Amino acid sequence: MNTTRSEAQIITRSQFRKDILCGLQARPKYLQAKYFYDHQGDLLFQQIMEMPEYYLTNAEMEIFSKQSTAIADLISRDKSAFDLIELGAGDATKSVHLLRELMAGELEFSYLPIDISANVISNLEDQLPNLLPGLDIKGLNGDYFEMLDKGIALSNRRKVVLFMGANIGNMEFKEAKSFCSMLSASLSKGDLLIIGFDLKKNPKQILAAYNDAQGITAAFNLNLLHRINKELDADFNLQNFEHYPCYDPDSGACKSFLISLKEQVVHIGAQNQIHFEANEPVFMEISQKYSLQEIEAMAMATGFHFVSQFFDENKYLVDAVWVVD
Ligand code: AVI
Repeated sequence: MNTTRSEAQIITRSQFRKDILCGLQARPKYLQAKYFYDHQGDLLFQQIMEMPEYYLTNAEMEIFSKQSTAIADLISRDKSAFDLIELGAGDATKSVHLLRELMAGELEFSYLPIDISANVISNLEDQLPNLLPGLDIKGLNGDYFEMLDKGIALSNRRKVVLFMGANIGNMEFKEAKSFCSMLSASLSKGDLLIIGFDLKKNPKQILAAYNDAQGITAAFNLNLLHRINKELDADFNLQNFEHYPCYDPDSGACKSFLISLKEQVVHIGAQNQIHFEANEPVFMEISQKYSLQEIEAMAMATGFHFVSQFFDENKYLVDAVWVVD
């Protein structure tokens, strides 16, 4: 199972080393995108989210800032108490709109944000009650599925799970399917999942989001080589690698590679040497884009069925609402 952005930090140095060597000794070579997010990677990702080309963040923010009343109505159709569980809550800047609506509706619910970062959870527990007085919040710090099971066991209320940010796109199609199947298996009949997918659209627009003019996405990818240098005593020369994103409008796979600009040998610690051919690619990340039909098929194949969907005005992104069968 792939780990997504917010699950990255529990990895130990020896696991990091093992995964990096495994990827670089494989044919074709790859590195795991979850390792992008060290301190510098987090800062670069913040910058990506603010780039004009990176439409995803604004699109989902628009959905939550303008349509939270409708989303809250849908969640609270039967008026019964529930737990709202958010996977990878981060700073909750989008979900705060929904929380405000749910509170305005005087609904009985608890907010259970899950994040791998203890820091993120303690910030949310400190700050959200100031912003939303009376909010019943219990943060869960740890791995998604472990914390989901813990969150589920806290009460016998129905559950509403939020998984936003198009993070599902960073899983290969098969992994995304098993992730959704695991979610439905953990939940109960009638529970809801609200899940964000980036949609297939003009290929040039998608490619630009991963190939920005300022080179921030390139720096984001190259930063992983810098991290390997720093943490695993390696000697990558970043000048010898180039960011290469590509988008296949047919499959919807947007992939990023680092290309070795020349034949070279890189040392990782004293023991390991990795040989690169000139122009050899290292696969870095997939950002899978979906059609609405593919999303609906995914729901049906993984133990859910479609309830509703919320788009931004441009229809760049969708937050789909699914119910467990
Ligand atoms: C976190 N994730 C949804 C981002 C994406 O769009 O795939 C990560 C990213 N990689 C490059 N730019 C953004």
